[in-house]
Amino acid sequence: MESEARLRLSPAQVRALAAEFGTPLYVLDEAHLRGRLQRYQAAFSAVHPRTELTYASKANSTLAVLRIAYQEGFQIDVASGGELAAALAAGVPASHCHLHGNNKQLAELEYAISAGIGMIVLDNEPEIATVARLNPSVPCVLRLAPGVDPVTHAKISTGQADTKFGFNIGDGSAERATKLALSLGLNLIGFHCHVGSQLLDPEAQRAGGEGITQFAVAMAERHGFVATYLNVGGGLGIRYTEEDVPMPVEDYCRLIVEAVTMAFHGTVLEGVELTLAQEPGRSCVGESGVTLYQVGVIKKVPAKDGQRTYVCVDGGLSDNPRPALYGSQYPVELVPAEDRSTWDYEVDGPGAAFGIPREQIVTISGKHCETDRLFPDVALPADVQVGDFIQVGCTGAYNASMASNYNRYPRPASVLVRTDGTFALVQRRETYEEVLMREQLPEGL
Ligand SMILES: Cc1ncc(COP(=O)(O)O)c(C=O)c1O
Repeated sequence: MESEARLRLSPAQVRALAAEFGTPLYVLDEAHLRGRLQRYQAAFSAVHPRTELTYASKANSTLAVLRIAYQEGFQIDVASGGELAAALAAGVPASHCHLHGNNKQLAELEYAISAGIGMIVLDNEPEIATVARLNPSVPCVLRLAPGVDPVTHAKISTGQADTKFGFNIGDGSAERATKLALSLGLNLIGFHCHVGSQLLDPEAQRAGGEGITQFAVAMAERHGFVATYLNVGGGLGIRYTEEDVPMPVEDYCRLIVEAVTMAFHGTVLEGVELTLAQEPGRSCVGESGVTLYQVGVIKKVPAKDGQRTYVCVDGGLSDNPRPALYGSQYPVELVPAEDRSTWDYEVDGPGAAFGIPREQIVTISGKHCETDRLFPDVALPADVQVGDFIQVGCTGAYNASMASNYNRYPRPASVLVRTDGTFALVQRRETYEEVLMREQLPEGL
């Protein structure tokens, strides 16, 4: 089955949203998001009898998104006390949350356990001892580093041996941790891995799933521990560019299930009632969101190869740090402030016969005190004007959740386009007062 298209608002929607809520603005489409989550559920449950989907809330922890994910039957992966607080505020019971983190603070563990957390993903030996002391009955899994190196940006690659996350299988740490957890009477139910993010070649996830399954078999054979839960993490990529062609969710779920069941086949664990889990983030919400900016200054400057046109928008590094962090690319589109009957049409180029506007290659940059080239080398209609809007696709994941107040910019608002087409503000724009709220000047300064 072909994937549904990524969210792309109509020019009328863009103008209406900008007029009502201002820019920069994060916009999420509820029907698109629900459709995506439902498709994951259907695809996964079609290929295995006992499945569990957990939404990785780091991708977008806006309360509305957490509520929707929960309503669509997802558990919620929280990687901090703050993300747990968000899930609880969204009405998600703690029993439906899984606590992650490579350096969980004692206060976070205490908070999660006293709230009634559904599962803890254990990452290191001191944590095993702490959980055993606080409450050994909480269901736990061990995060494993299966030693697979995914093809993705180094900063979002986590499954390799040289990683701060989890217990290494190859060097014996994972087996030691299993023995420790069992000896301390923890309610260990299985294993977990997450090998990386924005993965377009699913081989790493397949290998990760296979690796933790083989490990589970070894633990059954050597220590009599029968795992009933395996979580292969998230990581499926999305379509930021034309070249990004992720596997359809249906094929991906089948591939994961096959990897695990084949590794179980003919072993002591064959026949065990295994719950197979995944915890996607980006591929749930990324394509359901866009960001709207307004064009301010347009500047032509001399460049090495002639001239560069900077189209400066009213956002940047503070609402989307991913281009600066990973060189990420996005689908970018110009939406004129109002319909222009006099587009600067090509008169002699290939677009002439079709009324396609002439294009120019520009650099869209932000407003920060960095050279924040948000989107270099973008083709925009040549008559881009001050006041026009830029619609950036695929920003539903790792944008709002990674936003900062750099340069003291208030963070943007988020709006949900409801299933009936109306707009609902789900996170209002920050104010200057809020940006300064935590500070005080010492007496006498
Ligand atoms: C432990 C864990 N699980 C799930 C995810 C979600 O990954 P993605 O958004 O690529 O699906 C992440 C993201 O980094 C993660 O660290």
